[in-house]
Amino acid sequence: MSFTPAKWPRSLRSQEWYGGSSRDVIYHRGWMKNQGWPHDMFDGRPVIGILNTWSDLTPCNGHLRELAEKVKAGIYEAGGFPVEVPVFSASENTYRPTAMMFRNLAAMATEEAIRGQPIDGCVLLVGCDKTTPSLMMGAASCDLPTIVVSGGPMLNGYFRGERVGSGTHLWKFSEAVKAGEMTQEEFLEAEASMSRSTGTCNTMGTASTMASMAEALGMALSGNAAIPAVDSRRRVMAQMTGRRIVQMVKDDLKPSDIMTKEAFENAIRTNAAIGGSTNAVVHMLAIAGRVGIDLTLEDWDRCGRDVPTIVNLMPSGKYLMEEFYYAGGLPVVLKRLAEAGMLHKSALTVSGGAIWDEIAHVLNHNEDVILPADRALTQSGGIVVVRGNLAPQGAVLKPSAATPALMQHRGRAVVFEDIDDYKAKIADPDLDIDETCVMVLKNCGPKGYPGMAEVGNMGLPPKLLKQGITDMLRISDARMSGTAYGTVVLHTSPEAAAGGPLAVVRDGDMIELDVENRRLSLDIPDAELAARLSAWTPTHAVATSGYLMLHQSHVEGADTGADLDFLKGCRGAPVGKDSH
Ligand code: FES
Repeated sequence: MSFTPAKWPRSLRSQEWYGGSSRDVIYHRGWMKNQGWPHDMFDGRPVIGILNTWSDLTPCNGHLRELAEKVKAGIYEAGGFPVEVPVFSASENTYRPTAMMFRNLAAMATEEAIRGQPIDGCVLLVGCDKTTPSLMMGAASCDLPTIVVSGGPMLNGYFRGERVGSGTHLWKFSEAVKAGEMTQEEFLEAEASMSRSTGTCNTMGTASTMASMAEALGMALSGNAAIPAVDSRRRVMAQMTGRRIVQMVKDDLKPSDIMTKEAFENAIRTNAAIGGSTNAVVHMLAIAGRVGIDLTLEDWDRCGRDVPTIVNLMPSGKYLMEEFYYAGGLPVVLKRLAEAGMLHKSALTVSGGAIWDEIAHVLNHNEDVILPADRALTQSGGIVVVRGNLAPQGAVLKPSAATPALMQHRGRAVVFEDIDDYKAKIADPDLDIDETCVMVLKNCGPKGYPGMAEVGNMGLPPKLLKQGITDMLRISDARMSGTAYGTVVLHTSPEAAAGGPLAVVRDGDMIELDVENRRLSLDIPDAELAARLSAWTPTHAVATSGYLMLHQSHVEGADTGADLDFLKGCRGAPVGKDSH
């Protein structure tokens, strides 16, 4: 950590719009005054953009306008000028074909909303899965002082006395209905119990994972990740963030000061300790790409390899985010990592100090929620990266959500050419499949689906579910919901639509997964594989107009973060020419 605060006072970029008495300045300032701002609000104080992903169609972020009011209060208290700016909001549970297809569009919109307007620092109001990485990517490319405030998770759900985890139980109940163990009426009754407050998914799904990643990176105030959405302390967090961002602008403490390689290594180890989502891999690679940090899949495997999963939350464990908060939340996990020598203690955070200073004093209030290392859910909780002739550029697997016996497995491939093929065949009683087979799903990657949907944890054939089979090895170029579970190899790269070897797997081929040796192999001769690849032609639909065309033309592979190639990198926030 080596950060020297900038001198204050000095002129900020917002003064390019608001400072002085030229015609152009009066044009910018005068119109703002129609909202009733006193003249001295334009006197050079930091203008803080509260970038808000609120939307009625992003229910997980439905409370963010209320939270924005508390951020504003903090900014006023610290002598700043708050401006709330709506930005693109992609809801996980609404957007089609998948919210992931719009992550990069939202990042681009966020970046330009910051760069093109009189903003000196940013508060990112985020929550639902894609809203966190998209805003962090856009803000990182501008590199103005920035803090993340998450909306916080929903309260626990309960159905007939049992905890109900967002997403996790949706998949479980759905399979129980298919297996004849639950009626449709009971499923509908359970629906009402799942979402009993505002906020994001209450499991350690992607939203909670990305909130944890922001905190572990040092981009949020300590404790931000776990406070429930409806807890009054969430509003306190918002207000404290408003106070802090004003000082960060004065100090010129930027994302590139905080998001160093060490910070990313801290976040990767944190992801292993919390049993976090595989989606964090693509998002963190993309965020790193925006600040020019050379982060690779190998870093994920290397850093996470010996980290035990100690957070006992669904989908890997038993509890939910509400209990995680009561146990002490992410600061306790970070402290445990630090004590085990697995955290760069001096990494800088938005506080302006070292991460260790934020966590040294915290206590674990519930050792059944944040487990001792000898009772960890798994001793090696990091995301596993496998390679081989089926995934030359890598594929990932989450051990804490997998069945140990399947992590070394050889089986016959049952191939689905795309998601429609899967849906057409999976319930067919004549489908030639048993529990030893390997389910292979193609054309669900960044280009193929398009957008890399969360379909990698494809449901098992109903006829096997009815026999009591609960897991099988599944391989695809898709992603998986952070709330899901199973022995699922994801993000296989290159993807099928880009001509990766996944594209030429055939029914009956033998596939071998060897997690210990990080291998994923298609057992056919090299010459046969080469012949199939040279004869391959794409089968996925290719767009010829609109954003879809832009996405398919420029999206990169999952192994490097699935960003658009022309958006990678930090372009800063230069003030453009005035056109008036
Ligand atoms: Fe929005 Fe889970 S669907 S946080």
